[in-house]
Amino acid sequence: STTTAISNNDKPNTHNKNNTPQNKATVVLGAQWGDEGKGKVVDLLAMDADIVCRCQGGNNAGHTVVVDSVEYDFHLLPSGVLNKKATSFIGNGVVIHLPGLFEEAEKNSQKGLQGWEERLKISDRAHIGTVLALLFFCVVFNFHQAVDGIQEQLRQQQAGKNLGTTKKGIGPAYSSKAARNGLRVCDLVSDFSVFEEKFRVLAGHFQTTYPNLNIDIDAELEQLKGYAERLRPLVTDGVYFMHKALNGPSKKILVEGANAALLDIDFGTYPFVTSSNCTVGGVCTGLGVPPSHVGRVYGVVKAYTTRVGVGAFPTEQDNDTGDLLQSRGREFGVTTGRRRRCGWLDLVLVRYAHMVNGFSAIALTKLDILDTLPEIKIGIAYTVDGKPLPSFPANMDVLTKVQVTYETFPGWCCSTEAVRTFDELPSQAQAYIRFIENFLQVPVKWVGVGKSRESMIKLF
Ligand SMILES: *[C@@H]1O[C@H](CO)[C@@H](O)[C@H](O)[C@H]1NC(C)=O
Ligand SMILES: *[C@@H]1O[C@H](CO)[C@@H](O)[C@H](O)[C@H]1NC(C)=O
Repeated sequence: STTTAISNNDKPNTHNKNNTPQNKATVVLGAQWGDEGKGKVVDLLAMDADIVCRCQGGNNAGHTVVVDSVEYDFHLLPSGVLNKKATSFIGNGVVIHLPGLFEEAEKNSQKGLQGWEERLKISDRAHIGTVLALLFFCVVFNFHQAVDGIQEQLRQQQAGKNLGTTKKGIGPAYSSKAARNGLRVCDLVSDFSVFEEKFRVLAGHFQTTYPNLNIDIDAELEQLKGYAERLRPLVTDGVYFMHKALNGPSKKILVEGANAALLDIDFGTYPFVTSSNCTVGGVCTGLGVPPSHVGRVYGVVKAYTTRVGVGAFPTEQDNDTGDLLQSRGREFGVTTGRRRRCGWLDLVLVRYAHMVNGFSAIALTKLDILDTLPEIKIGIAYTVDGKPLPSFPANMDVLTKVQVTYETFPGWCCSTEAVRTFDELPSQAQAYIRFIENFLQVPVKWVGVGKSRESMIKLF
């Protein structure tokens, strides 16, 4: 039952033989296709965390945190960097786009972020996103148009234009990592002449393959050398850092996932996925943390479903219902401005995310967006050619063909924005939440009904 799940997961940390506390990391993960509002949950938990970590992704994700009506934007920096008492840690599983990192820190500093350099640690095993990673991508996929695009980018960069928000190079950097010609933080901050040699060999290789490629290697190196100096004081042995944090005195450790379960390279709707491990395993591989130190895992679920870009979307409502969710929920991509596709909550999909992640509890966000709907549906089963599917299919052709079985709920047709306790919610909204808990057999711990910190109603 859900009650058992709660008490099990709220057990205090266990102690080892010497009676020194063993800390566990609390994890926040997206349970759908992203944009669930993880930032709000992370923000709540980061307020009293001692360490806030990023374990995967790059600056290709992002969220806004509003503190004292100042909007801070985070893409690569853990949002815990706002908490002056917390250490922020970027693990080995993250790809570090250096111009992006310093630009982001600079922008947030202008808004009032202070002393971040003293509170940020970066794993020496993290990979860096470089121009070479982008070039490597072109070689691997022999993708001439991309080469053109990259040349254009390089031209812009040389002309001094700002590239920080294009969020490119994350996938390529991961390809490079897998191909074993990636460049890591530890390479950059040790003997620069060794790094320079590696860089030149790689660049030479690319230039031979693509004679038309015009990279100013010296300029690149000059820039990287500058970054090396700024990065060096932040770099640490990430495995040792996490080991000490987990085995030392009692600490609250928070891991903020980027992207979401259905965008995971292994478990997502491949190939429309991101390049990293966005499910719970990414915490272990992306930080160097043993599974036994993974504590509570919170899944963030939006009260309906959205998806960016193409690909199968079984509960999509390509009509007035979808339009309403889209406009009320302000479902636009943060960087692209693209409209997100919208549809009903799909619990087949969320249950699948739970199978992979083993959620301790759920944060259900944006419930207030459903306030005006007279009738609300939840997808609860898939069939193909009349045959029920036991779970979420791997094959995207199958996913395109599924028929969704829905459970229909009466709407509550009143505003929930001012509600601050579960009991104050309309009974229809309570029933909606309880149905989700029962279906997933996971308790809902928070329900979001607005933008502010206070609008995250805590259920237990
Ligand atoms: C993600 O996990 C898979 C499977 O464990 C692993 O092979 C891969 O290297 C990981 N990817 C990244 C980018 O860390
Ligand atoms: C809305 O569109 C979906 C498919 O996109 C369809 O299944 C559903 O019946 C439509 N709803 C209405 C009210 O027309």
